[in-house]
Amino acid sequence: MTKDLEGSRILITGGAGFIGANLVEACLRRGAGRVAVLDCLTYAANPLSLAWARQQKAFAFHQADVVDLPACKKILAEVHPDWVFHLAAESHVDRSIEQPLPFVRTNVQGTASLLQASLLHWQALPQSSQDRFRFVHVSTDEVFGSLEQDGYFREDTPVAPRSPYAASKAASDHLVRAYGHTYGLPYSMTHCGNNFGPYQFPEKLIPLMILRALQGKSLPVYGQGINIRDWIQVEDHCQALLQVAARGRAGQAYVIGARNDRPNLEVVEEICEVVDRLGLTAPGVRQSRDLIRFVEDRPGHDFRYAIDPAKLERETGWRPQREFSQALHETVLWYQENQPWVEECEKSYAGQRLGLGLTSPGGKSS
Ligand code: NAD
Ligand code: TYD
Repeated sequence: MTKDLEGSRILITGGAGFIGANLVEACLRRGAGRVAVLDCLTYAANPLSLAWARQQKAFAFHQADVVDLPACKKILAEVHPDWVFHLAAESHVDRSIEQPLPFVRTNVQGTASLLQASLLHWQALPQSSQDRFRFVHVSTDEVFGSLEQDGYFREDTPVAPRSPYAASKAASDHLVRAYGHTYGLPYSMTHCGNNFGPYQFPEKLIPLMILRALQGKSLPVYGQGINIRDWIQVEDHCQALLQVAARGRAGQAYVIGARNDRPNLEVVEEICEVVDRLGLTAPGVRQSRDLIRFVEDRPGHDFRYAIDPAKLERETGWRPQREFSQALHETVLWYQENQPWVEECEKSYAGQRLGLGLTSPGGKSS
């Protein structure tokens, strides 16, 4: 893998977000020649996530909106990437329930602009560079909808999105496939499960529960806590994305997962155990699990996600390296030790419940 990356030029959209910032670090640490980020810095971006990257000579940051076609063209011309990783998105299901329209704008229109700019860039490349170029579209397992107790998402699972977020990602997937089929743009598409680890904005389950437990606040579990998600540590996901770019076949999709599907309540209880074991139980709280509260369910809550990553493993040799309990332990410590980063997030989100219905029918996300 290191050999594939050495000297290569990489553009990462959404690189100031959770997975993007981890991918930037992974590329820089593995010797990429140029790692450039295109990001418009929404509420979900945290400038501190790129603090280390900014000290590296190979790094460049471009503040731009992925919907802005002239800006995308200009950045592609400047960066001249071998690989484009497209992660810029509105990414939170609960926010998509409150305000769907920004999801359509960024995830659909933004992907269309980036595809258009990438196609023009690719068509102008000499043959040898054209052969190496790859547009890696980072989609989600949520485009497949919801599973019952049995079965797994695979690459040929029918697309059946059920939240505005998932629908907007599925629409962007169609555009990517259309650019590949019609114009020959060499793309690969990935569908990963739920990530966790450093730099995740605390609106998502794991960081929200960690921070609330550390602060002695209630832990809101939607419904009965029986919904199942398939969890992967973010660095394992980043490693899979790099393997897909280097070894995946053009025009192919890969589902990514670490065979770690668990009910939400089990995950929240394990976070509580880690917090208590580390001696971080909030003052006045006997044990962190006493903070768990079952609250009104999410509208249209998908029941189960679970992934069979056999194709990715077979074709690229990728294997997850991180064991869930150990990675969760490290994640609790990371949030406890990175207070300035947490405070930066708190400027735009105070931990309130999101996603019980439409809030602003025409509104923009903050
Ligand atoms: P995130 O919300 O943490 O980060 C998204 C980033 O995109 C932010 O830095 C934001 O500023 C940027 N962005 C948003 N709108 C933009 C625009 N119009 N122009 C330019 N930049 C814009 O998201 P994440 O969790 O890091 O997810 C990254 C990608 O991975 C998304 O495409 C998401 O659908 C996909 N994904 C996420 C998960 C997960 O568990 N988090 C799982 C599978 C797939
Ligand atoms: P989330 O992190 O929002 O990711 P996604 O909806 O993309 O899977 O939620 C993960 C699971 O946790 C999901 O089933 C909803 C549930 N959940 C809660 O029970 N309480 C919460 O406060 C949040 C944010 C999520």
